[in-house]
Amino acid sequence: MKNISLSLTAKKIIEAVDKMPSLSPTVSKTIQIVNDITATPKQLMDVIKLDPILTGKVLKLINSAFFGLPQKITALDRAIILVGVNTIKNLALSTAVAGSFCDNKKVAARINMEELWLHALGVAVTSKLIAREIKIPRPLQEEFFIAGLLHDIGKLLLVQYFPDEYAEVVDEIKVSGASIIEVEHKRFQANHEEVGGLLSEKWRLYDSLIEPIVSHHSPNFDSSSTLTNVVYLSNILCINNEIGFICGQIKRDIGESILKKVGITRDQIESVIKKIPGELAEAARIIKIGDD
Ligand SMILES: [Fe+2]
Ligand SMILES: [Fe+2]
Repeated sequence: MKNISLSLTAKKIIEAVDKMPSLSPTVSKTIQIVNDITATPKQLMDVIKLDPILTGKVLKLINSAFFGLPQKITALDRAIILVGVNTIKNLALSTAVAGSFCDNKKVAARINMEELWLHALGVAVTSKLIAREIKIPRPLQEEFFIAGLLHDIGKLLLVQYFPDEYAEVVDEIKVSGASIIEVEHKRFQANHEEVGGLLSEKWRLYDSLIEPIVSHHSPNFDSSSTLTNVVYLSNILCINNEIGFICGQIKRDIGESILKKVGITRDQIESVIKKIPGELAEAARIIKIGDD
């Protein structure tokens, strides 16, 4: 490791967090509304209609070939009912998060942002599939998707602001087989969980969502939430199955303790793994339609 790493202090990371745009009020409000199980589609519509970009994306999505409706839908309320509240929330959040990390040529030359994004989406759909498998009530399953989608936001920030240094981190992990947390700490004096924590505060994410962001690599199983444990497990499954950019991380066995903690069997895990490609393709398609 060259000396230059020592100049990348926590201060520079804090500056990078400061430079990140805030989540739009629409997105913050959308997350809040959809996580309130008593909220109605009308409440969601009242928020979305204030955001012309998101309104446009919702209408574009409902009128896309994906839904195959015979008539063009121009009314937002009808579109929300047809698309479903959860899809709207995922679209809003994915759009906001992806939009926060702009395309940067230098990043693209060293690290494939699209692949990083695919990993996030992979962990999102896997977490939701596990939630379904362990019979988490339906309205709560979407939180598993969101937690998975956001789990590596700290990594997205490090890659965006320090692309060369991060590419070296990936190279070192590949050669040494050391843990990503350890190598990042050596390079940046902070790891992507800690950076994700800073960004979560800036974005005012709610507490239950922050825990999986700050401890998805080594949750404290005595106190961690089911949400965190599921994201931890999904992250390993996506690394083991090479879904998206895995940053050189090595495949790991899944221990009995995490299976017990989550309440899932190895057979159920196998069934989840089989469903990942289909769910991932569908989620990616929905987000892409909103993005065109
Ligand atoms: Fe991670
Ligand atoms: Fe990850």
